[in-house]
This record gives sequence, C-alpha cells and structure tokens, in this order.
Amino acid sequence: MPYDLIVIGSGPGGYFCAIRAAQLGMKVAVVEKDKTFGGTCLNIGCIPSKALLHASELYEESGHLFDKMGIKVGQPKVDLAAMMKFKDEGVDGNVKGVAFLFRKNKIDTFQGAGRIAAPGKVEVKTADGKTETIEAKAIVIATGSDVARLPGIDIDERRIVSSTGALVLDKVPQRLLVIGAGVIGLELGSVWRRLGSQVTVVEFLDRILPGIDNEVCRQFQRLMEKQGITFKLSSKVTAVDAADGKLKARIEPAAGGAAETLDADVVLVSVGRVPFTQGLGLEEVGVKKDNKGRVVVDGHYATSVPGIYAIGDVIAGPMLAHKAEDEGVAVAELLAGQAGHVNYDAIPNVVYTHPELAAVGLSEDDCRERGLQVRVGVFPFAANARARGMGDIEGEVKVIADAASDRVLGIHILGPHASDMIAEAALAMEFAASAEDIGRSVHAHPTLAEALKEAALATDGRPLNL
Ligand code: FAD
Ligand code: NAI
Repeated sequence: MPYDLIVIGSGPGGYFCAIRAAQLGMKVAVVEKDKTFGGTCLNIGCIPSKALLHASELYEESGHLFDKMGIKVGQPKVDLAAMMKFKDEGVDGNVKGVAFLFRKNKIDTFQGAGRIAAPGKVEVKTADGKTETIEAKAIVIATGSDVARLPGIDIDERRIVSSTGALVLDKVPQRLLVIGAGVIGLELGSVWRRLGSQVTVVEFLDRILPGIDNEVCRQFQRLMEKQGITFKLSSKVTAVDAADGKLKARIEPAAGGAAETLDADVVLVSVGRVPFTQGLGLEEVGVKKDNKGRVVVDGHYATSVPGIYAIGDVIAGPMLAHKAEDEGVAVAELLAGQAGHVNYDAIPNVVYTHPELAAVGLSEDDCRERGLQVRVGVFPFAANARARGMGDIEGEVKVIADAASDRVLGIHILGPHASDMIAEAALAMEFAASAEDIGRSVHAHPTLAEALKEAALATDGRPLNL
C-alpha cells in the first residue's frame, strides 16, 4: 500500500518529521542507510560530543576545583576506555529511543540507501544488495551532511581525523593540532585538552567562531587561551606529512608568506560540513542544488520537483539539530494542510565548552552592518550572586535592543549553563519581547538567569547589582 510520506534519513530532521506526520494521521515510512537511527546528531555528533564534554569537564573540576570546595578525592585519573563506554551508552540509549518512537507511532522503517527513482518512488538498496521500491504521495529528503575535507589532507580517522575519529581515539594524543576554530574545533579541542593533550588550533580567519558576536568571541578566546589552548589565527594548514610515523603539518599565513612546520600526534580536520546527497538520484529526477551542493527549497521546503521536499543540514541555513527538528515538524504540518513555520530569527546557537557560549538573534556586528541604532546592556557573571556562590564567575550576558522600540534584537551569553539560559532568551525573542519586558519579569533568586534580567536593565542604564 503506498505511503502518504517517505522520509529519507532518520537524523533529527527526518525523525521529527516522521513522528509529527504520524501524529497528524499520515502513513509514514523512514529509510535509513545506517545501522542505527538518529543520524549524525545522535550517533557521531551532538550526543557523543556532549557526553565527552561532560565527562572531561567533571574530570577537570575534580582535579582543580574540588579541593578548593573542600572535597578531597586525591589525584583523579582518566580511564579512557571507560569514558568512551560511558559515551557509547548515552548514544545507545538515544538511538534505541528513536527506534522505540518509530514503533510507537506506527512508522515503517526500511534499512538501506534510498534513491529517488521518480517523484513518489523511492528505491531502497539494502546492505545485501537487494532492492525494494516503495511509493508515497510525498518524499522528504533529510539526508544531512558530511565532513568537509581539505585537498591533500587525507582523513584516515586514526591519526588525521574528522570529528567522527576524534570521538573514538583510543589514547590521549600528546599534541593535537586542530584545523578550524569553529564549533567542533573548540568543543573537541576542549575535550582533549582537559584529558591532557597540548592543543593548537589553526584558523584561516583573524578570529574564532565566525558568525558569533566578535567582542564576546574575543573574551571567549582569552578564556580558552587561559585554559591552555594555543591559537594560530590568519593561518592555514596546507599539507600534513604522515610519513615516518610522525605528523608534520605545514602552516602558512592565510595571506601568503613563509611556512612553518608543526609536529602533531593527531590532526583534527574541522573546517565545516557539506550537504550529503550522494546516491540520491537528484540529478536524474531534476531536483535543483545550489553552488554549495545544498538542495534548493522554497519557503515551504518544496524542491524544484513537485512532491519532493527537503529539510535540515541538506538545505541552506545553520547546520544545527534543533533547526533540522523544527523544519521536520514544519514540513509535516504543511503537508497536512497546517501552517508549519520556523522563525529563523530566533534560532539559538550554543558552544558547549566551559564556560559555554550561547547566542540568539543579531550580534553587535550584524546590527552595525544593517545600520541599526541599538542600546547594548552587559552584565558580568562576576556580579551575579549564584555564579559567585558557585565560584564560576567568568563571562557576561549581553542584551542588544533596538534604540527606538526597545525590542530585543539579540542576546549573547558567555558563562556557566549558558545553554540552558539561552532558552529564555529565545522565548523572549519569539514573543518579540522588549528589554523592558525581560527586566520587569520576576527572576528567581539566586539564579544565573538573573544576569539576563540585569543585562536587559543595563540597556537602559539601570542594572541593580553593578
Ligand atoms: P543528519 O543528522 O546528518 O541525518 C541524516 C541521516 O540521513 C543519516 O542518518 C544518514 O545516514 C541518512 N542518509 C543519508 N543519505 C541517505 C540515503 N540515501 N538513504 C538513506 N539514509 C540516508 N548540532 C546541534 O544543534 N547541537 C550540537 O551540540 C551539535 N553537535 C555536533 C557535534 C558534532 C561532532 C557534529 C558533527 C555535529 C553536531 N551538530 C550539533 C550538528 C547536528 O548533528 C546536525 O545539524 C544534525 O544532525 C542535522 O540533522 P539532519 O537530520 O539534517 O541530518
Ligand atoms: P564551522 O563552520 O563551525 O567552523 C569551521 C572553521 O574552520 C571556521 O572558523 C573556518 O573559518 C575555518 N576554516 C575553514 N577552512 C580552513 C582552513 N583551510 N584552514 C583553517 N581554518 C579553516 O565548522 P565545524 O566546526 O567543522 O562544524 C561543522 C558544523 O557542525 C557547524 O556548522 C556547526 O553548526 C555544527 N556543529 C554544531 C555544534 C553545536 O551546535 N554545539 C557542535 C559541533 C558542530
């Protein structure tokens, strides 16, 4: 019997889409080429990286902070195999959870690589070479992304690794060279630095984390340097020589000039991700892609071919799990005749280091570029009672509000638990809050969230604890 919807890919985009469509009464099939469901995020992305960030952060705290708090545990030791097992258990629980949700929502699953043979027709090729064709009124492409590679630097996932290999190293590298000061470089660089590696991050641009508020990033970089990470900005790695059992990276100034060589035990290539559409048959069926290989969609996620839709990392926009999830829900609702919608102006972005960095909306640089008149309020965690009590006072909250209307345009948080605090900021922006609205909302005391209220008041020059 034909389906109402076939979703290709079971990452956060695909599995949210399938579940929402099933909730709305559609008969749904999901095609997944990998052994487990959950895509990049659950298997080799968000979940394993956050498990290692959590474990390595506690390891570092137990070595440095516990003693100060009067907790005597002796010198902690890393059992890397056990830490990896802890991470794998977290992944396992999550991927099994997706399988459970598919069963609960009566979603049929097909294990194998999907190829769109024609609109409404998906051919599934299983690992044993068998092919089965399934049919549906609509197809959603949710095939995600893959690691971006650098010419001449071959990833073997042992010594020259992508994030996938960096999540399964079997020993702590003495020297880790990270190419790219983006989210992966900083998160996984932090993990291995905490576990004992000397970490050098080489970044092409003259700043880290492009796209995030520059002033906040400069503070963030200083904190990362204080923790022991070395940055080489405005530089590029042009080759890695892997002969003789040693890795020798050739580093050149981005603008050209004399090269230097840096020895490393492991090189992490983290220079971005690219959309994954291999084997999908898009060219044959006529689905258009842009010059970056992303599937082109309209405001309703429809591709250039009627009946074929696309969401998540495979289309334009930030490559984030929650963006993919919300697009999955939106397209399912649109297919059911509802008004599915994603507000791209209020998508939070988080770097899960310590301190965490979280942002939603415009940065000060964005506002300047758009010629917007703004008022900026900053409140440091050093003046927040809870942060003081926790001994975790680095960072600040920055609120950017429109000078005339007071509407919040952006919120940036560098500090402890910023990933949780940003939810309030995103909600405020979703409801088009003014800084005054946040400043007048009662915030429990003592909480870190009071720093957001104070930063909102600071846009009007009236923080109470500064
Ligand atoms: P994916 O999760 O990539 O899923 C696509 C799925 O489609 C895969 O399972 C793939 O096997 C399958 N597939 C592809 N082609 C076919 C085919 N032809 N047939 C059948 N199946 C197919 N984002 C965050 O928001 N927060 C984080 O903390 C975070 N951490 C990350 C850490 C790392 C190390 C990495 C690499 C990424 C991280 N991301 C994070 C990004 C996040 O993982 C992605 O944005 C998200 O997974 C995209 O979801 P998706 O559903 O579009 O695609
Ligand atoms: P990224 O796009 O965040 O950063 C890549 C960095 O590499 C940029 O700073 C870029 O300027 C630099 N770069 C590019 N080419 C270079 C070169 N030749 N030499 C030196 N530097 C170079 O990409 P990253 O870190 O690989 O992450 C990929 C995606 O995964 C991101 O889009 C991110 O959204 C997602 N992700 C999200 C996480 C989160 O939300 N916490 C965690 C990890 C990944």
